[in-house]
Amino acid sequence: MFGFKLSVLLFAVCSLSKCSGRFVNSCKYPPSQWCDSRDIAAECGVLEQCVKFNAVPVNVSLYYESLCPGCRQFLVTQLLPTFIMLTDIMNIELVPYGNAQEKEDQGKYTFICQHGEDECLGNMIETCLLNTLGLKAIPVIFCMESGADVLKAAQPCLGVYFPDTTWDSVMKCVKGDEGNKLMHQNAQKTNALKPPHQYVPWITINGEHTEDLQDKAMSSLFNLVCSLYKGDKPPACGQGLKKKTNSYCMN
Ligand SMILES: *[C@@H]1O[C@H](CO)[C@@H](O)[C@H](O)[C@H]1NC(C)=O
Repeated sequence: MFGFKLSVLLFAVCSLSKCSGRFVNSCKYPPSQWCDSRDIAAECGVLEQCVKFNAVPVNVSLYYESLCPGCRQFLVTQLLPTFIMLTDIMNIELVPYGNAQEKEDQGKYTFICQHGEDECLGNMIETCLLNTLGLKAIPVIFCMESGADVLKAAQPCLGVYFPDTTWDSVMKCVKGDEGNKLMHQNAQKTNALKPPHQYVPWITINGEHTEDLQDKAMSSLFNLVCSLYKGDKPPACGQGLKKKTNSYCMN
């Protein structure tokens, strides 16, 4: 994949008629290293192309369940704040399903969830919200997951962010064939994980799960995304996320 993209890049560079003998000779690095650093890119005259080539968003996928405490904490304290600050350099995918199980019966699926039927309902509401609203559903999901009661919060949370979207339209998906099909897709995605998930929240970065990536994401997703992004870092990355904001009321 990388090789293919690089050859496309080189083709683009050459088609800009920059592949003169002088140009090639003036750079002592092989093309495979041209985009490794800003200095090399500048020396080889491909800085602009490499900045674009490297500006690939970091994909973060979260496999989770609506009522799992660790999932809720990660969503609320890591994923949403990071997404707000780094939205230009990351993609998020949420897959509510986690440790659930499904059974098929005549083309319809039934689900058993780790934290009971309420969790299945929460997963389904969030799935339908994501399907209808795309990533704009994330603040609604944040609102639900940060409340005391995830299910009770759902309708008011939707009302805060999307006053024009009716709760009935969400429930139509939740109770109907559409939701059933979407949840089956979540099951398939979750069951296709390699390595298979052992717990939730289960995080993949650019489709990959390792213990190291998981640990780093859990302790600071913000720092991880900043460090993995190869394009020009946004200003937010430079400042870093302050570990603790102490708030004093001075005398
Ligand atoms: C990130 O996700 C997008 C869309 O889902 C995909 O096209 C792209 O290849 C992914 N990037 C990486 C590095 O996995």
